Amino acid sequence: MFREKLNLTAAQVQTYLDDALGAYPDGPLRDAMAYALQGGKRLRAFLVIESATIHGIPVDQAMPIAAAVECLHAYSLVHDDLPCMDDDDLRRGQPTVHRKWDEATAVLVGDALQTLAFELVLASDVSADVKTDLALSLAKASGAAGMVYGQALDIAAETADAPLSLDDITTLQAGKTGALIQWSACAGARMARADTARLAAYSNALGLAFQIADDILDVEGDEAETGKRLNKDAEAGKATFVSLLGLAEAKHRAAELVKQAENALSVYDDKAEALKEAARFVISRKN
Ligand code: IPE
Ligand code: IPE
Ligand code: MG
Ligand code: MG
Ligand code: MG
Repeated sequence: MFREKLNLTAAQVQTYLDDALGAYPDGPLRDAMAYALQGGKRLRAFLVIESATIHGIPVDQAMPIAAAVECLHAYSLVHDDLPCMDDDDLRRGQPTVHRKWDEATAVLVGDALQTLAFELVLASDVSADVKTDLALSLAKASGAAGMVYGQALDIAAETADAPLSLDDITTLQAGKTGALIQWSACAGARMARADTARLAAYSNALGLAFQIADDILDVEGDEAETGKRLNKDAEAGKATFVSLLGLAEAKHRAAELVKQAENALSVYDDKAEALKEAARFVISRKN
């Protein structure tokens, strides 16, 4: 079952992250970083490892890169939950970092997890060229044209005068969620210095489907399963596919995107089965 494979990766990533944190001075900052890194589906790590595997790169070599994107992602969640952003008190079934500690700690945890991500990439066992390529592309995917850009559009949309168009929402979601998912799925090809085009097409569709599913879960998910408060998007006036198209059309669109994602991988034959399963998983998941 796909979930079992994902859980296996999650356990390996957790061990790696626990080890990496061991190098830092102990105290509340490190404790809060460890807390923010706990749990999570580890889908992005899975995409890194699977894209590496189909290019013949061993799991051990891909693991620091997989762990890096989970640090970047965890940072984005800690900041996303802050009162000045989505103001959430529950994440991965636990109180958010700023609730358990305080806002200053949450800001600093995000800062430190972001730099840890780059540290892991730069300390990894790959050639200097590959390292530069991974670090540069991760910076771009995370920053003011990527995840942070999407987050800025998401926040701006809350107070926009007119509803966003479908194109606007696609751009927003491609940034806030798509960019890191795309980076993850292309990382294995980058490590092997192979063409990223098919994986980019796959993850472009996958990232959008993933965020549509997240928006659907916000409406009709189960708080105990998602580990997040529900109905937050409508309350905050967020612009999502669900707000623009309604639930039925959003589900239809997500299913179409999953088919597109699977089709994009046809050149890899059986080797890409796990990535295709991941695509189906993103719209069937309950958390
Ligand atoms: C949640 O991401 C935030 C979004 C980008 C929608 P995930 O659903 O991957 O969160 P975790 O890592 O499993 O907690
Ligand atoms: C956040 O999207 C995406 C990032 C953190 C970059 P959401 O705000 O929809 O994520 P959740 O629903 O809080 O996990
Ligand atoms: Mg948000
Ligand atoms: Mg949020
Ligand atoms: Mg959400």
